[in-house]
Amino acid sequence: MLKRIVLIILTPIIFVISWLLLARIVRHFYKFPMPEFMADFITNPGRLKMQPPGETAVRHGIQPGMTVLDIGPGNGTYTIAAARQVGPEGKLFAIDIEPRMIERVQKNAAAAGVGNIEARVADVYDMPFDDRTFDVITMIAVLGEIPEPDRALAECHRVLQLDGTLAISEIMVDPDSKRPSTLRREVEAAGFQMKEKVGNWLIYSMLFGKKR
Ligand SMILES: C[S@@+](CC[C@H](N)C(=O)[O-])C[C@H]1O[C@@H](n2cnc3c(N)ncnc32)[C@H](O)[C@@H]1O
Repeated sequence: MLKRIVLIILTPIIFVISWLLLARIVRHFYKFPMPEFMADFITNPGRLKMQPPGETAVRHGIQPGMTVLDIGPGNGTYTIAAARQVGPEGKLFAIDIEPRMIERVQKNAAAAGVGNIEARVADVYDMPFDDRTFDVITMIAVLGEIPEPDRALAECHRVLQLDGTLAISEIMVDPDSKRPSTLRREVEAAGFQMKEKVGNWLIYSMLFGKKR
């Protein structure tokens, strides 16, 4: 009986760990943007409880009146929370390489009655914004699926204001997620310095400013 209970508990745990390990190995060699049909799957109730969108916006240092860029918004759940945080005096821009993600952001923002989001199709390697435009740039579960993070980070450096914040959040069950030490090394090599790290081993956010 005891053996059966142990098996019932262990089987799903071993299955999930094996799946994540396999996914990590595959993603290490083949990087591509998350397929559009996964957008709702990754904003499941469990994740939203662990990484609440409103709380994430506050953690990222987003304040009323700011001009903020969300890179890789997916279905826009975190974008909408950030747009609510900047309020009517602020502006939220979102860019995604996948046009159907941008359609989702526009549709979901309209359904939520949020009117201060401008969502465009663009590649993080070549963003359609002037130098030093943004107070805050956010990337949530995005950097790990970008094949050349150094190019993406150089673009972020260009469009971030001198005293702006680059806020990156990772969730370790994402097969593309980066360990905190790896993330810090990569971002600091691109001309940033870490200002703050919040969270725990499962979910964390790192805030960076431009190196002076
Ligand atoms: C895993 S999803 C994260 C979605 C959302 N931030 C979240 O946490 O729910 C990654 C997103 O990054 C976008 N993306 C991937 N490569 C990109 C690139 N080179 N430029 C812009 N967006 C990109 C994908 O299309 C996708 O919407």
